[in-house]
Amino acid sequence: MALKGVQWENLKDFGPSGEEERMLIELRACTVRSWRPADAESLARYANNRKIWRNLRDAFPHPYSLSDAKAFIALALGARPETMFAICLNDEAIGGIGFMLHSDVERISAEIGYWIGEPFWGRGIAAEALKAVTSYAIGEHGLKRVYAVPFAGNEASHRVLEKAGYAFEGRTRKSALKDGEVIDQLLYAYVVD
Ligand SMILES: CC(C)(COP(=O)(O)OP(=O)(O)OC[C@H]1O[C@@H](n2cnc3c(N)ncnc32)[C@H](O)[C@@H]1OP(=O)(O)O)[C@@H](O)C(=O)NCCC(=O)NCCS
Repeated sequence: MALKGVQWENLKDFGPSGEEERMLIELRACTVRSWRPADAESLARYANNRKIWRNLRDAFPHPYSLSDAKAFIALALGARPETMFAICLNDEAIGGIGFMLHSDVERISAEIGYWIGEPFWGRGIAAEALKAVTSYAIGEHGLKRVYAVPFAGNEASHRVLEKAGYAFEGRTRKSALKDGEVIDQLLYAYVVD
């Protein structure tokens, strides 16, 4: 949930020299860490891509402006618990990954989503980040299940999920309307047995 009153101007203390860097996972191909206000320009640069938007929910803007990036970073930094993170190369934010915790009887379950800037596709970054953030979400929140719902045509994402240990559970027919087209979605889950 976003904290009330977290405005862009109040975020200046977040970051490497500030006190509020809250999450950091160093991996082989990338680093996953809390968003910082200074990430806004690289976020807008890499997120402003129709090929990325085409595979995400419509809540992800297109075109993706600098003010969209600032609004998103303010949201990510104001959220408690923190569930949205930057994927970085040499400390530059080149993608994003986040999960949505559920409530009531589904409080042991979360949905995860991710994207990587196009210049960095095919280097194993998404699979590595997904594996790490899945473990993080399970460990931090006592989850039994993390799942993703990629569009049926998104074969790169299906492969990422398989590489990260997710199992295919099924196909929900005609469950989404994206870019004017009614499409199927696939359900993949990582289950703690
Ligand atoms: C999907 C996405 C996150 C993958 O990121 P990435 O860092 O390139 O992923 P990885 O390098 O870890 O793995 C990609 C895998 O997909 C494979 N792949 C890529 N394009 C493919 C295609 N058209 N068909 C089948 N497999 C494909 C790659 O070969 C690779 O598998 P491999 O390691 O076995 O060779 C990235 O393309 C992206 O951001 N897409 C737009 C947003 C998106 O789809 N997000 C996921 C929403 S569910």
